[in-house]
Amino acid sequence: MSKALVPTVKESFLSVVREVVYDQATILGRVGELGRRIDSDYRGRDLLVVGILKGAFVFTCDLIRSIPSPVGLDFISVSRYHPGRDQGRVRILKDLQGEIAGRHLLLVEDIIDTGLTVHSLLGLLSRRKPASITVCTLLDRRDLRLVEVPIRYAGFQASAEFLIGYGLDYRDRYRNLPYIASMDLDAERVRISQPDEPVRDSLLVYQAG
Ligand code: IMP
Ligand code: MG
Repeated sequence: MSKALVPTVKESFLSVVREVVYDQATILGRVGELGRRIDSDYRGRDLLVVGILKGAFVFTCDLIRSIPSPVGLDFISVSRYHPGRDQGRVRILKDLQGEIAGRHLLLVEDIIDTGLTVHSLLGLLSRRKPASITVCTLLDRRDLRLVEVPIRYAGFQASAEFLIGYGLDYRDRYRNLPYIASMDLDAERVRISQPDEPVRDSLLVYQAG
């Protein structure tokens, strides 16, 4: 991989990282294994990979590049569930662009926790009559499962610790960390209580007037 693609992680990032749980090389090795398995399972079929935004976008990018055969790609975005209120019903924020009837879908998620998001999406998408749907998740946190989800491909098991990086966020930040890390929530509280650094001149690419 080109060195330019590996970001230098800033100090302000590192303070919220408690521990690197899976480093970049470990993740890419495992994603490669999943891609090869998917490729041999779906050989000769019309496979449509569906990434769940935003969390699964990094994983989906690496996964499709580790599948040697041609595949289709689409993304769906759903709102988070509200536990207790509507028991995991999701609302579509961005729907798929194409028809899925008769196609083989691989639903790709970053982490399956309670299972409510994927369970609800499986119900919603199966009503559109695809030929099949299977689930691929990078991380599987079994201990907090509230509904059973049929997972065909899982990258790693996850403990109850909150994770960030490689697409996973805390309040929409830290997705760009190149590894998966557990998070120090106290350090995040300190970080957001400090004022932003002033924007350096070299970052100003456009000035009005
Ligand atoms: P579920 O519906 O409880 O399975 O929740 C899955 C969704 O919650 C994932 O798509 C993630 O966006 C989010 N999520 C769950 N655990 C974590 C975590 O540890 N870090 C970041 N996001 C998480
Ligand atoms: Mg998500």
